[in-house]
Amino acid sequence: MKNKLIKLIKSRGVKVGVIGMGYVGLPLAVGFAEKNINVIGLEIDSRKIDAIKSAKDTISGITPDRILKSCSGIDPKLEITTDYDHLEKVDVVIICVPTPLKDDMTPDLSFIESTAMEISHRLREGMLIVLESTTYPGTTEELLSPIFESTRPLGNALKPGSDYFLAFSPERIDPGRTDYTIKNTPKIVGGITENCTEVAAELYKILVDRVVTVSSAKTAEMVKLLENTYRLVNIGLANEFALICDALEVDVWEVIDAAATKPFGYTAFYPGPGLGGHCIPVDPLYLSWKLSQIEHESKFINLATEINQNMCGYVVSKIEEALKTNGKRMENAKILVLGVAYKPDVSDVRESPGIRLISSLIEAKTEVSYHDMFVPEINLEDECMFSVELTKQSLSSADCVVITTGHSYYPIDMIIDSSSIIVDTRNAAKKYQGEPQNVIKI
Ligand SMILES: NC(=O)c1ccc[n+]([C@@H]2O[C@H](COP(=O)([O-])OP(=O)(O)OC[C@H]3O[C@@H](n4cnc5c(N)ncnc54)[C@H](O)[C@@H]3O)[C@@H](O)[C@H]2O)c1
Repeated sequence: MKNKLIKLIKSRGVKVGVIGMGYVGLPLAVGFAEKNINVIGLEIDSRKIDAIKSAKDTISGITPDRILKSCSGIDPKLEITTDYDHLEKVDVVIICVPTPLKDDMTPDLSFIESTAMEISHRLREGMLIVLESTTYPGTTEELLSPIFESTRPLGNALKPGSDYFLAFSPERIDPGRTDYTIKNTPKIVGGITENCTEVAAELYKILVDRVVTVSSAKTAEMVKLLENTYRLVNIGLANEFALICDALEVDVWEVIDAAATKPFGYTAFYPGPGLGGHCIPVDPLYLSWKLSQIEHESKFINLATEINQNMCGYVVSKIEEALKTNGKRMENAKILVLGVAYKPDVSDVRESPGIRLISSLIEAKTEVSYHDMFVPEINLEDECMFSVELTKQSLSSADCVVITTGHSYYPIDMIIDSSSIIVDTRNAAKKYQGEPQNVIKI
């Protein structure tokens, strides 16, 4: 079985199914299609499929022409559908569905579970299944493998490693980034057995320059959590340094920039208004939950989460301080928030610190508006808000302007020259030509 599938992969005759056409799944599906592999993209949201096919879906960070090229023409390599029966045609299935948190902040694996059930009804001998969704260590072996076993009559279950292959391979892309792509970011692969690792590694060699194999699926799951916990903790440390520097009247940005000149032993992380995006605020909590099941805890995760969550309140206190310098109070103050995307130059608002700040400012009875060229509209708990234009007029009519995302298109000179006072949570003012007198940095 193993050699047969490896041969098929090497011949490029392998057919790949990718489940979940989001930030992770769509670029992966297009990547395989561009290597002349036939790909089925499965997506439950038919509106999303329409948006992808008409190249309106730009969230994935891949250009519309790449998507169109893969989906159209005389011999389209990528077919996107809602119909799971198309999996009957594929040799490989890669799962890229969401892994959010439930309201009680515990892992919600319902997307993985329902996907696995669909696959299990169509699992055949010689297939490879890879999980790419970020999850807690043990998911591939303890959750997926038993699902695949349970849908077969007793004594007839397919065995991973001999009858079919099962592996975990974390996605490490950073959407919107162009210097590190799927191709030149090494891919970690860990299977349930050595055979599983070998087959999955062979598959990814089609797409990436370097495949790094590890001894088990659980190890591969842990690698991703170490990477994201490392970011969570270091951002937490940068945020704590922002508070410490504030108390000691030192500019934290100057400190970090100077420390970053050390060529070894230090990697720069920066403070901000709080964590955003689907991964860093969420993934380490998967690990925390897993640890709680064995009565263990990660003190680093807990502390960093607490520090990062408190940054929103700290920014509100800075806004209050800024208003006070102009003799104003929070109540009815006009606040203009610049940026609701969680990071520069993308439209992704998942876990957006800008939106969290807007909600806090509404609670504090201020009059809030926002501007973000990438995000024309946001949904708050009980209202919809639209991005205002970024003009001298919109800036000067605000009692305080808050920079929450460091988008590169901001006309910083105009922002600083037109605003009465600015709270800058991203050190965006460093691009200003001169010494700004109306900027309070965090
Ligand atoms: N976005 C990132 O930068 C990133 C990076 C690394 C890892 N990850 C991980 O990858 C996984 C996917 O993340 P994403 O950002 O691509 O999410 P996403 O929300 O952008 O995309 C997931 C897609 O899966 C679809 N879906 C849900 N259930 C489905 C089902 N049963 N069948 C078919 N489609 C289904 C959703 O409609 C959605 O379009 C998550 O576990 C995430 O933590 C994300």
